Amino acid sequence: MTENQDRGAWSSRIGFIMAGAGSAVGLGNIWRFPYITGENGGAAFVLIYILCIFLIGFPVMIAELTLGRKTAKNPVGMFHALAPGSPWKYVGGLSVITGLVIFSWYSVIAGWVVGYLYKTAAGHFNNLTDPSATETIFRDFVSNPFSVILLTAFFIALTGYVVFKGVKSGIEKWSRVLMPILVVLLILLAIRSVTLPGASEGLIFYLKPDFSAINTNMLIAALGQAFFSLSLGMGTMITYGSYLSKKDNIPTAAAWVCTFDTLIAILAGFVILPAVAAMGKAYTEGPGLIFQVLPSLFGEMPGGQIFGVGFFMLIIIAAITSTVSILIVPVAYMVDEKKWSRRNAVGFMCLIAFVLSVPAALANGAVGFLSSLPGLGTDYFTIISSLFGDVSLTLGSLFIALFVGWKWSTAKAKEEIESEGITFGLAKQWSFLIRFVAPITVSILLGYTFRDNIWKLFFG
Ligand code: TRP
Repeated sequence: MTENQDRGAWSSRIGFIMAGAGSAVGLGNIWRFPYITGENGGAAFVLIYILCIFLIGFPVMIAELTLGRKTAKNPVGMFHALAPGSPWKYVGGLSVITGLVIFSWYSVIAGWVVGYLYKTAAGHFNNLTDPSATETIFRDFVSNPFSVILLTAFFIALTGYVVFKGVKSGIEKWSRVLMPILVVLLILLAIRSVTLPGASEGLIFYLKPDFSAINTNMLIAALGQAFFSLSLGMGTMITYGSYLSKKDNIPTAAAWVCTFDTLIAILAGFVILPAVAAMGKAYTEGPGLIFQVLPSLFGEMPGGQIFGVGFFMLIIIAAITSTVSILIVPVAYMVDEKKWSRRNAVGFMCLIAFVLSVPAALANGAVGFLSSLPGLGTDYFTIISSLFGDVSLTLGSLFIALFVGWKWSTAKAKEEIESEGITFGLAKQWSFLIRFVAPITVSILLGYTFRDNIWKLFFG
C-alpha cells in the first residue's frame, strides 16, 4: 500500500470543507465560547474575537492548510521536509504534545455531555422549575470521581475507534449530516432563549459593547479562543491539509470554515447568554455555564426532553469530529515518522491521553487539592486548559506565521496555493497579515501573558 492510500483523502471539495468545519465546530463553540464571553465582559469581547478570527486566524489557517498539502505530512514531518535538520521540528513536537494534552481535558468535558445526555434522557431534568437546582445537580455530577473518569474514558475510546477506522469514512460523513441539523437546533434554541422573560439584559450584555472593559487579558482570551475554535496552532489543519488535493482552493475553503465556525459560536452565545440573564445566573460561572443553563432552557420548551436529548447528541458528535482531528496529529506522527501501525499508535495515544485526563477530570470538585491548587488560587483544569488551550496554540500559530512568512516564504506558499490554475486574489493582503500583523500582534499578546499570568502563576 502506498503512503497516500494509507493516509486516505477527502472525497470532494465540499468533503474537506465539511471535515474542516467538523474539526473547528465543537465544544469550543458551544461550551467554551459562551462562558469565555461571559467571563470577559460580553459584546466588546465578541467584536475583538471576530477581528482575531479574520485578521489572524484566517491567514494562519491558509498557511497551515498550504503547508500540509505541500508536504502531505504531519507537523513534525512537514518541518522536516521543508527545513531539514533545523530546530523547526521542535515546533512540530510541541504540536504533538499539545494535541495530547488538549485531547485529555477536552474529553473530560465531552464526558460531561455524555452524562448530561443520559440525565436528560432519563428524565432527571423534567419539571425542573428552580434554576438553582440545576446548579446542585451539576456540582454533584462533576464531583463524583467514578462517573466523570468513566465517561472521559468512554469518550477517549470512542474517538480512538473513529480514528482507527480511518479519516474519510470517519469524519466527513458525520460532519455532513451533523452540521445542518446543528444549525437548525441552535436557531430554535436561540429563539426560545431570547424570548424568555428577563432575557433582554443578556442580549444587551452580548450585543452592546462596553469598550471600557477591554484589557490585555481580554485580548489574550479572544486570540486564544480564536485559535482554539479554528483548530489552529497544533497541526490539525496541517494534517487535514495533507489530505487535500491540488485542485482544492485553499483560501476559499479556509474562508468557509472560518465563517461557519464563527457563525456557530455566535449562535451558541445567543442560546446561552440571554438565558443566563433570564434565569438570574452569573455570566462568570465558568466551564459549568452551559450545563447549568441548558437543562432549564429545555424545561421552558414544549417537548424539551426530546429537544435536550437531540441537542446533547449533536454536541457529542460535534465533539467527536473535533477530537478526531486532535488525536489524528499524534497518531499521524507515530504512523508516518515512527512507522508504528495505526492500531498501536491509536491505542498508545489514547492510553496516554487517559492518564493525563484523570487529574483534569477530578479537578472540578472530586478531589479537593486539584480543585483548588494550594498557593495558585485556581484549579488544575483551568491551568491545563489555558496553558494548552490558549498559550500553546498561540505560540504554535506564531511559529507557523513566522515559518511561512519568513522562512519558507509566502511566495512559495502562493505558488502551492495556485498550483492547479487557481488564482489567489488576496495573496498580497494575506502575505502582509501573515508576515507582519499576525506575528507582531501575537508576540505582544504572548509577552503580556507571560508577564501577567504565567510568571505570576508560578513565581508569585
Ligand atoms: N476547534 C475545536 C473546537 O472548537 C477543537 C479542536 C479540534 C482543536 N482540533 C483542534 C483545538 C486543534 C485546537 C487545536 O471544539
